[in-house]
Amino acid sequence: MKTAQNFNSYQSVCYVSSQQKINTHENDSDCLILLDQTKLPFEVEYVSLYDVDSICEAITKMVVRGAPAIGIAAAYAVTLDCQRLLETTDLNLIKEKLRFSSAKLRKTRPTAVNLMWALDRMNKIINSSKKETAQELYLELLLEAKNIFEEDLETNKAIGKFGAELVPEGASIIHHCNTGGLATSGYGTALGIIRSAFESGKQIQVYLDETRPRLQGSFLSAWELEQLGIPYAVIVDSASGFVMKTKGIDMCFVGCDRVTSSGYVANKIGTYNLAIIAKAHNVPFYVAAPLSTIDRSIKLGQEIEIEYRSGEEISKVGGKWMTLDSVTCLNPAFDVTPPELITGFVTEKGVVYPPYEDNLRALFHNN
Ligand code: MRU
Repeated sequence: MKTAQNFNSYQSVCYVSSQQKINTHENDSDCLILLDQTKLPFEVEYVSLYDVDSICEAITKMVVRGAPAIGIAAAYAVTLDCQRLLETTDLNLIKEKLRFSSAKLRKTRPTAVNLMWALDRMNKIINSSKKETAQELYLELLLEAKNIFEEDLETNKAIGKFGAELVPEGASIIHHCNTGGLATSGYGTALGIIRSAFESGKQIQVYLDETRPRLQGSFLSAWELEQLGIPYAVIVDSASGFVMKTKGIDMCFVGCDRVTSSGYVANKIGTYNLAIIAKAHNVPFYVAAPLSTIDRSIKLGQEIEIEYRSGEEISKVGGKWMTLDSVTCLNPAFDVTPPELITGFVTEKGVVYPPYEDNLRALFHNN
């Protein structure tokens, strides 16, 4: 299947609108196209989705994954939903249906706050729009979803630029999960920093945690770095202590799914272990954090809802049993790293150091 125009190989979400011609596609019009991340790196396959229910399912099953990418997909899902209601003349009824769809999308994954953040932006339009026709409302929603996408791309590049300044020539870096173009609008946060450092001419060596159980490191991050030509080696998650001791690691970069107002970070399971090991080896530990991932409504780590996923993600890999079929597994998909283990947050407004409560707050007040 051919991909839509402007849909580069790291972009996992693309909205195709025949009316706005924001993208065109040989076979499809008016749909959301997702690069199926569950098939990578073995197959590069795209799925076209035409309604909110199938987008909800795609988010839950991790066809699209990564905090910013999920938010973007949800924003386009609301837009698509409105487009399907263009024949309806009762605008209040349309708005009611859109709020219902938005609530459904919100429940797909609980931890990454970008999903809620993007839906809040879409709901704000739905609730405050003064437009008098469904067509006008649709265009307003489409514009907001496009803005969310484009702002994320700009944000990624700014994070990349600020983060790259922290990277010394010849640096060895450990990275966890996938935070690249696939997990975002197309450039990446923590992997965006690595990409930006490399593109500025620095020689770097990256160690990618494989990131059990869904293997975002070995499946997705390795696929991206391979295409970018950045030197890397995949390591098992439990090798990071030994690698820090023996390979002269200069720094760790990770992404995040939710940051509280005082700097607790929910991110892919294993992040907390890596942060403790980094502290034990005096290795700086940086979190790449777009402002859209900072949840100022909560302060402590325990207030973050952690997603638990099916035990089969642990007991089976690629459909094959890795253990007895009778085993019981516990599968928290995220963990929480406390602020005292974090050297700094790399945001689109610059690098933030402790005290986090004050300095993260200031990001929202300084232009
Ligand atoms: O369960 P996933 O694959 O959606 O989790 C993704 C992560 O934890 C990423 O590291 C995080 O979303 C940052 S993406 C820029």
